[in-house]
Amino acid sequence: MRIKYTISIVFFVALVIIEKENNIISRVSDKLTLKQTPRTPLQPSGFSHILLKHNGSFTSLGKIDSAFTLMKRRLENYSEHQEVMTRGRKHILLLATTRTGSSFVGEFFNQQGDNMFYSFEPLWHVEKMLTLDTGGTNATAAAKAYRDVLRQLFLCDFSLLESFIDPPPVDHITTALFRRESSSSLCEESVCSPFIKGVFERYHCRTRRCGPLNLTMASQSCLQKEHRAIKSVRVRQLETLRPLTEDPRLDVKFIQLVRDPRAVLASRMVAFAAKYKNWKQWAVGGDVPIEDDEVRKLKGNCDNIRMSAEIGLRRPSWLRGRYMLVRYEDIARFPMRKATEMYRFTGIPFTPQVKSWILKNTQAAKTSGVYSTQKNSSEQVEKWRFSLPFKIAQVVQKVCGPTMKLFGYKFVSSEEMLTDKSASLIEDKMFNFS
Ligand SMILES: *[C@@H]1O[C@H](CO)[C@@H](O)[C@H](O)[C@H]1NC(C)=O
Ligand SMILES: *[C@@H]1O[C@H](CO)[C@@H](O)[C@H](O)[C@H]1NC(C)=O
Ligand SMILES: *[C@@H]1O[C@H](CO)[C@@H](O)[C@H](O)[C@H]1NC(C)=O
Ligand SMILES: *[C@@H]1O[C@H](CO)[C@@H](O)[C@H](O)[C@H]1NC(C)=O
Ligand SMILES: *[C@@H]1O[C@H](CO)[C@@H](O)[C@H](O)[C@H]1NC(C)=O
Repeated sequence: MRIKYTISIVFFVALVIIEKENNIISRVSDKLTLKQTPRTPLQPSGFSHILLKHNGSFTSLGKIDSAFTLMKRRLENYSEHQEVMTRGRKHILLLATTRTGSSFVGEFFNQQGDNMFYSFEPLWHVEKMLTLDTGGTNATAAAKAYRDVLRQLFLCDFSLLESFIDPPPVDHITTALFRRESSSSLCEESVCSPFIKGVFERYHCRTRRCGPLNLTMASQSCLQKEHRAIKSVRVRQLETLRPLTEDPRLDVKFIQLVRDPRAVLASRMVAFAAKYKNWKQWAVGGDVPIEDDEVRKLKGNCDNIRMSAEIGLRRPSWLRGRYMLVRYEDIARFPMRKATEMYRFTGIPFTPQVKSWILKNTQAAKTSGVYSTQKNSSEQVEKWRFSLPFKIAQVVQKVCGPTMKLFGYKFVSSEEMLTDKSASLIEDKMFNFS
């Protein structure tokens, strides 16, 4: 008997030490999860039984006991998590900003097939509803709304999103869901109610004729899918989404997509000509006023992107295994390789449908419209260097310098260097994540 106790105590002390090493316990729990062995000999209730039974002889072990209780609770927490994980359901959030190729990368998940419920920019409605007279939003209020809507959508619950749709859905039916047709999940047979003549739906399905969107049907279809993916260009700070990682019902994976800010600005000046008319004026003549609101906004965007990435790359425990950084330029140049990496990161099988979609859509010679995802992507990646004037590039380098450095985008010091296509402005850079 004595040997038995000694063994338990030694085992205990070892476990307590492990508990103190946060890293190790996480790794242990990760391994447990991977191996899918929920009831191994580590199962704690056996030991607590011994302790309770022999309270008297272990009075000096009070501290160990309380540490043990804490650990036990944590293990229970992990095994709760494990239940979700062993079912293998993944919740992917593709985080980007506009003109970074996020529609294109979103297609990697939209094309996945019957396993995936993909939502395209659902937060568009939230941002629109929360836009103030000033044209901006209250960042704190918006961040909270974004997070809560994302959480619900990952759980296939559209009710909070409905409260942001204008005009409000009636009986969960809406004709106003933004870019419905960009989500193949919302145009499937099972989400396609009978077409009603005379009812106008701006973002109607292209693949089949459907009536207005019945969100109850969408929710039911979503619940049938194994995985869920959402693309959004609206979240400003990754840290605001931390509660999603702590929700035991979710297994969230964040993919942050970034792009050279000079290329982003060049692209926005074309795609959002009205909004960027100041930049266009500066491009053709005069000096760029560095104290201008537009310039400040650009700096704010760059800083948000950089801060989110810095948190992700620092690998805090709440993000471990949940964060991946991807550069648009790498996807454009090596789409298949990057898609494979992204799928490996998410833990979802990379299907032949996705592969063939990527092949088809990265080698086409013609482009068709500003929102097109179909382009010769190798060619596309350097094009901006001939449309952005050097002085504008300089302004971007000035206000987005730290962001560019972090992601490995080279600065140019002259017009010649900007337009010298023989010298790439993209450093080879590996981002460690996991
Ligand atoms: C064992 O310890 C717990 C708390 O430490 C106490 O509540 C319980 O009464 C003790 N049992 C015995 C049999 O001493
Ligand atoms: C277990 O998880 C809950 C929430 O899921 C949390 O409030 C609690 O602090 C966790 N307990 C431990 C010991 O980590
Ligand atoms: C933004 O919203 C938060 C919470 O909703 C509120 O407390 C705060 O006062 C608002 N800030 C401004 C500047 O309106
Ligand atoms: C929407 O779909 C649900 C579930 O299929 C159904 O019960 C409901 O009647 C539909 N709503 C309308 C207005 O057709
Ligand atoms: C795409 O562009 C690259 C670089 O200009 C070129 O080498 C390649 O042949 C192009 N591919 C197609 C299919 O047009």
